[in-house]
Amino acid sequence: SSVTIPPPACMLRPLEVPLRYLFGPGPSNVPPRVLAAGAKPIIGHLHPEMYEIMNDIKKGIRYAFQTENNMTLSMSGSGHAAMECAVFNAVEPGESVLIAINGIWGERVAEIAERMGANVHKLEKTPGNYFSNKEIEQAIEKHKPVLFFLTHGESSAGLCHPIDGIGDICRKHGCLFLVDTVASLGAAPIFMDQQNIDILYTGSQKALNAPPGTAPVSFNDRACHKMFNRKTKPVSYLFDMEHLSNYWGCDGKQDRMYHHTGPVSGFFALRESLAILAEKGLEESWRKHKEVAAYLYRGLEDLGLKLFISDKDLRLPSVTTIAIPDGYDWRKLLMYMMKNHRMEMTGGLGPSVGMVMRIGLMGYNCEKSNADMALHALADALKNCKKSKA
Ligand code: GLV
Repeated sequence: SSVTIPPPACMLRPLEVPLRYLFGPGPSNVPPRVLAAGAKPIIGHLHPEMYEIMNDIKKGIRYAFQTENNMTLSMSGSGHAAMECAVFNAVEPGESVLIAINGIWGERVAEIAERMGANVHKLEKTPGNYFSNKEIEQAIEKHKPVLFFLTHGESSAGLCHPIDGIGDICRKHGCLFLVDTVASLGAAPIFMDQQNIDILYTGSQKALNAPPGTAPVSFNDRACHKMFNRKTKPVSYLFDMEHLSNYWGCDGKQDRMYHHTGPVSGFFALRESLAILAEKGLEESWRKHKEVAAYLYRGLEDLGLKLFISDKDLRLPSVTTIAIPDGYDWRKLLMYMMKNHRMEMTGGLGPSVGMVMRIGLMGYNCEKSNADMALHALADALKNCKKSKA
């Protein structure tokens, strides 16, 4: 045989990556310090120095989640990996789960749970709305789920869901409380232990400002008791917590066995981003997100735009949603800003498509000067993209 397929011409050209202002819902711009950490020389994923780095990451996640859980680690994969890991391990086929859906993330978890054969019950509202503790308790009483899922930072709607009291309700009814904080961690307060959250996960690429591809997750003792006393094996080998807990040194065993090859550079970058959060402090990070978000809201209102979430206390500080202004095609506004300002903002996602435009100022990007740039680009787009009257 001989080579009949020639090298592709594109591979003979250098890689080109444009500079972009990532002011959408993520990934957000990565600070030079985190980029530099990710560019350090590779070491083996089973070298003792790597275990030290993984141990540091565990501690950094415990701080960010405000938990003392031993079963705390990072998935090799994006937020979806943590989402699947939580569901695959905590739920067995045929068991009842209750999923709160008020945007795309509940929809996703419901689909994941359906695929693995769970008996899925949905508590649904349109994007922008939230669930009262009473509604949640009534649905739990009705469906008797083994797990209740809620999104803390619903990035598709720009809503930050209240959490207090829900963990107690879940405990009272013997169900696990699973919370998604991909879009909210570091931007809005969350207290895993104090709020009785049994399983919590996040992503690396939002307020943590690491590249996409790693996803912190933590399980408390209640969650561990359920997932390590299963009758069936989880459907995924890669996401099986029996293996991952050993790989991350959480199972108390002396030796860590080969399970999969973790994304070494991704873990370096994640460690650096958690270090930045630890140096800055959670309270300061939450304060800054709130302050810059409030500044952005004022600027948006000055432009005559309407915020999608009217109750200020329910707004997600990391991702702001604006109602699409009358007389504009949202796709044209976004394209205009990308072309003329090299700036990413996005439209809605899943059920919020056509309802909102989204601006994310997260972590490193969370500065008033960036809010000014975003407002300037939007003002320019609004001036130049008005639909002509028919
Ligand atoms: C994705 O994470 C999004 O909110 O767009």
